[in-house]
Amino acid sequence: MELKKSRLIGIGHYLPSNIIANHDLPASLNTSDEWIFQRTGIKQRHFVADGEKCSDMAIAAARAAIKTAGVAANDIGMVVVATSTPDDTYPATAGLVQAALGIAPGPFFDVQAVCAGFTYGLFLANQSIMLGAVKNILVIGADVNSKIIDPTDRGTYVLFGDGAGAVVLQAEKDSGDKKQYGIINCKIDGDGRQRDKLFVDGGVSSTGTVGTVKMKGQEVFRFAVDKMSKIVEQCLADVDMAVADIDWYIPHQANSRIMDAVCDRLKMDRARVVSTVHEHANISAATIPVAMSMAHDEKKFKPGQLLAMSALGGGFAWGGALLRWG
Ligand code: UT7
Repeated sequence: MELKKSRLIGIGHYLPSNIIANHDLPASLNTSDEWIFQRTGIKQRHFVADGEKCSDMAIAAARAAIKTAGVAANDIGMVVVATSTPDDTYPATAGLVQAALGIAPGPFFDVQAVCAGFTYGLFLANQSIMLGAVKNILVIGADVNSKIIDPTDRGTYVLFGDGAGAVVLQAEKDSGDKKQYGIINCKIDGDGRQRDKLFVDGGVSSTGTVGTVKMKGQEVFRFAVDKMSKIVEQCLADVDMAVADIDWYIPHQANSRIMDAVCDRLKMDRARVVSTVHEHANISAATIPVAMSMAHDEKKFKPGQLLAMSALGGGFAWGGALLRWG
């Protein structure tokens, strides 16, 4: 069977208009702009308006991505939404996106891998394209973290925001040339034994409630640096490439100190790192597509450049990818 290649043909993002700067956070949190910025690089986050849902953000980001892709909504053959904060317990948020955008009936599903969700969605979409199952796939990362953070916990409340990012992937004949535009490699991994380091203490079959984020920050930090750098190295090694080949690195945007530490591990120049965390904080599954879309809007990427990305989230789950832009 002839394998296909996934080319990224469209990208877009959506951030709610309600911006909460560090100094707007409740005084009861006993935090400061100085602490938050120095420890994380975060200056502000966007929170959904009353009644604004995960699907609303996913739809807005997807609409923008489809527009830049230049395909009709009806040409999309599969919808994947990476989220840990869906509208409903079921059906999947991806189905709401499909219906709202007038995409023809076809497969849709949500992926739950927390902050690594976009890389998991990309992996599954890429495999579906490579095997020739679908021509155009919409992959969205969307999260409403403001609904699952505890306003009395300064250790987590200051770190998260809401938003959505989306890409459209299209199947092309794979020439076998690493210069061909599209996904060169995508890998996912995980270790379920690490659950207690980052989790939400609620759920349908346990408490029957939504719960709030609980985190052992320093342990997550150490794991994130290790796994986010290793998976980039593994993606490169598989295809006989090196860190020096990377033009832009798009890390999961949780903390600028994590990004700096990954760069140190990879011996990568920080000028090649896309960093948008100051504008939106950690938006879980949305962070990589939002950061990539914001950098695209700034015209940072040139056709033919090699982009690397990696993320780690609760579970722990982590993933990474190499993409030839254009
Ligand atoms: O996508 C994966 C999701 N999560 C992450 O990637 C997060 C990974 N972890 C981190 O980013 C960092 O560990 C944090 C930003 C969460 C914390 O930074 P840290 O440098 O590891 O600080 P710490 O937890 O060691 O806390 C240092 C101090 C403590 O006070 P004491 O015990 O030294 O008196 C905390 O109570 O800072 C205090 N602190 C705060 N102070 C003001 C913790 N949060 C805050 C706050 N404002 N928001």
